[in-house]
Amino acid sequence: MKNTAVVGAQFGDEGKAKITDILASKADIIIRYQGGCNAGHTVVYNNKKYKFHLVPSGILYENKICFIGAGVVIYPENLKNEIEELKKEGISEEQFKKSLKISPLAHITMPYHIDTDGAGEKSLGQNKIGTTKKGIGPTYTDKYNRKGIRVEDLFNEKSLDKKLDIILPEKNAVLEHVYGLKTYTKEEIKAKLKEYKEFLAPYVCFDWQKVLSDAKENKTILFEGAQGVLLDIDYGTYPFVTSSNPISGGAAVGGGMGAMVIQEAAGVFKAYITRVGEGPFITELTDETGDKIQTIGAEFGVTTGRKRRCGWFDGVIAKYSVLVGGISSIALTKLDVFDTFDEIKLCVAYKHKTTGEITDVYPTDVSKHSEYEPVYKTFKGWKSDISKAKTYEELPENAKIYLSYLEEYLNTKISIISVGPDREQTIFKNSI
Ligand code: GDP
Ligand code: IMO
Ligand code: MG
Repeated sequence: MKNTAVVGAQFGDEGKAKITDILASKADIIIRYQGGCNAGHTVVYNNKKYKFHLVPSGILYENKICFIGAGVVIYPENLKNEIEELKKEGISEEQFKKSLKISPLAHITMPYHIDTDGAGEKSLGQNKIGTTKKGIGPTYTDKYNRKGIRVEDLFNEKSLDKKLDIILPEKNAVLEHVYGLKTYTKEEIKAKLKEYKEFLAPYVCFDWQKVLSDAKENKTILFEGAQGVLLDIDYGTYPFVTSSNPISGGAAVGGGMGAMVIQEAAGVFKAYITRVGEGPFITELTDETGDKIQTIGAEFGVTTGRKRRCGWFDGVIAKYSVLVGGISSIALTKLDVFDTFDEIKLCVAYKHKTTGEITDVYPTDVSKHSEYEPVYKTFKGWKSDISKAKTYEELPENAKIYLSYLEEYLNTKISIISVGPDREQTIFKNSI
């Protein structure tokens, strides 16, 4: 396998974890490159459901390195819970100690980040982003404002003390005077950070330069993205985005080995689109078809339990995603969700509601999205159970027609077709 980045190509929850899990079998090191515990990744294997937020899903295999890169933000309390939950599912403590490695450069989500994420959303009222309230925006804000705490800081008491003297008064002023929230004493924060240090210590990879050098020279690398291109801080539906770069370029930064090591970017697309939280969604279905997709697709958020909004596959977004996401092949998931549908629609262009202008160029100014309506191409459903298909040839003719059109429309080959949540329910169409 080429060194591959798994990139969410829509609004997140495309089934990245399933694709990562499958490709991880052929990789030596799996690197999560951005995001935080806002992510909710599900892997189904041996009739068990594993839920991940930060831990790379490669942990399900023995003898893989699972590396949390510098581009990720870590809320230690959440990571602790995640590891505990995964231990209950049978992943041993030894497995975590052997495989899980955390970059000392990753940033820590602090308690005040969680507070201000929630309060910030509340103060936005109807204009809220609909965040996961996991402190993601505030953590990245502090990172880029050079007021963050990194994992390595926890291991340097003197420098940490100095940093807190600079950072904490400002945080407290915002907590108290902007949001009317409880402030933190330095002692409280230091005690928390001591807890974080003790918990993280077995996993922190101080010799990361050696690990990554070795990976670059001798190993097959899989980069695991979170969220999706349309939630990218630069290219997504700003401001209804997350605060990091899910695009494959993000793997170059957050992975720590530059762009040249990434030989393939598998864009994960659902056969339809879902979105959680606020923000524009041109192909959203608020009718019974939307409900049907939501029910059959079991579209509930893993992190927040929220119902996901559903709509038809948006080719305009997908084309844009292929471009800015740097996507070189398509992993299409949840095709089985359409097994009972008479017809399936695919948005091939947007029509301007007043001028009638037709475009397949994605309008980046989201305040204008309400001016457009989707132009659909309709495909006949296949009306049969495809969840047991193992090869492309076994798929019904109508499914093949849909897939061929998609490849042609996006001018990108399909590498993987997923026809169910389980590892086994996967068809390889082209090699990665
Ligand atoms: P991620 O955040 O991109 O990793 O995706 P999530 O795990 O949040 O959501 C994808 C959901 O779809 C999970 O519950 C998966 O188990 C499930 N899933 C993945 N691929 C397929 C598929 O091909 N068919 C069906 N029916 N479910 C799938
Ligand atoms: P995975 O990795 C779907 C959404 C939130 C909100 C916006 C900003 O499972 O695909 P944030 O908490 O990041 O500041 O929220 O981004 N969001 C996701 N939506 N899947 C995710 O992750 C998401 N992570 C964040 O709902 O709209
Ligand atoms: Mg998810």
